[in-house]
Amino acid sequence: MSKTLQAIRGMNDILPEQTPLWRYFEGRVASLLDGYGYRQIRMPIVEFTELFKRSIGEVTDIVEKEMYTFEDRNGDSLTLRPEGTAACVRAVLEHGLAGGGQTQKLWYIGPMFRHERPQKGRYRQFHQIGVEVFNIDGPDIDAELIVLTWRLWGLLGIRDAVTLELNSLGTSEARARYREALVDYLSARAERLDEDSRRRLASNPLRILDSKVAETQALLVDAPKLADYLDEESRVHFEGLKARLDAAGIPYVINPKLVRGLDYYSKTVFEWVTDKLGAQGTVCAGGRYDGLVEQMGGKPTPGVGFAMGIERLVLLIETLDQVPAEIARQVDLYLCAFGEPAELAALALAERLRDQLPGLRLQLNAGGGSFKSQLKKADKSGALYALVMGEDELARQVVGCKPLRDDSEQQNIAWAALAEHLAARI
Ligand code: HAM
Repeated sequence: MSKTLQAIRGMNDILPEQTPLWRYFEGRVASLLDGYGYRQIRMPIVEFTELFKRSIGEVTDIVEKEMYTFEDRNGDSLTLRPEGTAACVRAVLEHGLAGGGQTQKLWYIGPMFRHERPQKGRYRQFHQIGVEVFNIDGPDIDAELIVLTWRLWGLLGIRDAVTLELNSLGTSEARARYREALVDYLSARAERLDEDSRRRLASNPLRILDSKVAETQALLVDAPKLADYLDEESRVHFEGLKARLDAAGIPYVINPKLVRGLDYYSKTVFEWVTDKLGAQGTVCAGGRYDGLVEQMGGKPTPGVGFAMGIERLVLLIETLDQVPAEIARQVDLYLCAFGEPAELAALALAERLRDQLPGLRLQLNAGGGSFKSQLKKADKSGALYALVMGEDELARQVVGCKPLRDDSEQQNIAWAALAEHLAARI
């Protein structure tokens, strides 16, 4: 197939074999968030480019090199959203959702776009479920976000495979003081820095902390530490968060080098990481962004949130063999009919069963076929039972009920008794 008739590199079809696991995952997260009082918001996939530049930061990797930006027919510069927080803040501001100090606990789901180098767990179109909370400034809500993700990992059977990394970036003033000290220290040793880090020294020095270059890391051993520059308020906030995690029995690791790749964070930042997926091991990440709403033209409004990568979590569930057996089965009953009179009766019977058994997953054979071929399709569908209706059954107003997943005998069941018979078995 010619290249331009194929999917774009890093943008994947999610095939019917995979969608049951996606729906299972999404359903689990949605009902968990319902249970904690979060409400869903849906934002557009495209926004003005300026929105992302202003919120994520001009000198971040995302804005500098990863955005899908284009001019639309009006000459406006638009961008496919690389993440959800910016648009969520925009929507909250635009609709006054956090006005007058009103609390908002929101979540969203959908595709995000970043022009990164594709590899396992890293795609150019990927999917996130994100959560954002507005107008709660204490560490209790930071803890709630972590507690609910911890519960989710438990529900999904992946808790043992993930570790929580935690850090505090302090207020923007504290960070500015630290930045100065770090720049002083590194500038005096600039010749030992890698090229990327040297460039960042002027633009975004904190990102040097998570450089992968060994010599740069060696240089950082004696560098000033962010923790020593934390302001009192951030320090108290961080202690409050740690105390709550201890109380909830959630293990964590303090990672003083965790700075995150987006500029809007202050105070708490965290990542859930796994070593089971190779290089792309962060499955969920977030933090506090108390200055962002104001920076985007609103009143001072504390905010905190996170986003998880659906592809990575689905991959982790598969890797750990935690795909529940029942989600593989999408059909309960497969109804086979032979000859037009039986087909007509089967259609009516199928509709009656759907009325009687809400939620029933029944597949009616379409396209005819021999007894053998219909039963083969029934088996392949994953159904528990094949229902068989031929001339003989039609005349006697029964169906053959053939178990497909065990060796028990086929039984003839009267149409009138069928719903009751099935209700006890499915
Ligand atoms: P982020 O760390 O850029 O944060 O992304 C969050 C998660 O999305 C990552 O931990 C990862 O699981 C997934 N992810 C990111 N990029 C890719 C990719 N190219 N392919 C596959 N998965 C990916 C944010 O987006 C922030 N908006 C999170 C947040 C919300 N902070 C506060 N509120």
